[in-house]
Amino acid sequence: MRTPFFAGNWKMFKTVAEATAFANAFVEDVRGVDGVDLVLAPPFTAIHALAGATQGSRVAVASQDVYWEKEGAFTGEVSAGMLVEAGARYAIVGHSERRRLFGDSDAWVNRKARAAMSAGLVPIVCIGETLEEREAGQTFDVLDRQITAGLDGFAGSEVAGLVLAYEPVWAIGTGRNATPEQAGEAHAHIRQRLRQWFGAEAAEGCRVLYGGSVKADNIAALRGQPDVDGALVGGASLDPKSFAAIVRNGR
Ligand code: PGA
Repeated sequence: MRTPFFAGNWKMFKTVAEATAFANAFVEDVRGVDGVDLVLAPPFTAIHALAGATQGSRVAVASQDVYWEKEGAFTGEVSAGMLVEAGARYAIVGHSERRRLFGDSDAWVNRKARAAMSAGLVPIVCIGETLEEREAGQTFDVLDRQITAGLDGFAGSEVAGLVLAYEPVWAIGTGRNATPEQAGEAHAHIRQRLRQWFGAEAAEGCRVLYGGSVKADNIAALRGQPDVDGALVGGASLDPKSFAAIVRNGR
């Protein structure tokens, strides 16, 4: 059985003070909720403070990105080792906003995921099709490309330990979530590909999250799909009560 997994992606929201206040409230709100993995991904600036504020709780901290080099003349970038030292345990890579706004390619996603894993961070690798791709009937092709390129060189045992997030780009921040059937179909496809390309251990161990306009009132139906292991939540993770309600309704 895969442990349900809920991650909040705060994007470019929350100062250190706001992140700490969130943590204090959220840790209380989810006290006694067990059997789930809970992760918060703040901006880089709040990682250390949030790791301190959640220490001893079941809440872990993720970065929203990572660079693959260890150190050097790479202005603006942060290495996996630096993130570990700051208190992160997970690293989101390949979010569609990174791909669309900052040019992250599948090859970069692969290098970032590899660097994260080598440093001891669990990669949360985001994949998903645009509206145009869905309407052109290319959804599965896009997912296949993102999985093969993004996870190139990973062993089955490594894939078993990482997290994938299926986030249809047209559902992110739009209020238009995929129907449970659309999510279920994509997740079943991803699971089948994991089995085919990385083996049974990978297919059975890898948590595959759904992301895109997840709310407290739609998470239960999404989780009703057998291959949806949890959620990567943007907007609705910014308020501790709302994110805690998603965790409770979706676990
Ligand atoms: P959203 O974002 O929940 O606000 O749609 C999801 C994400 O971008 O991870």
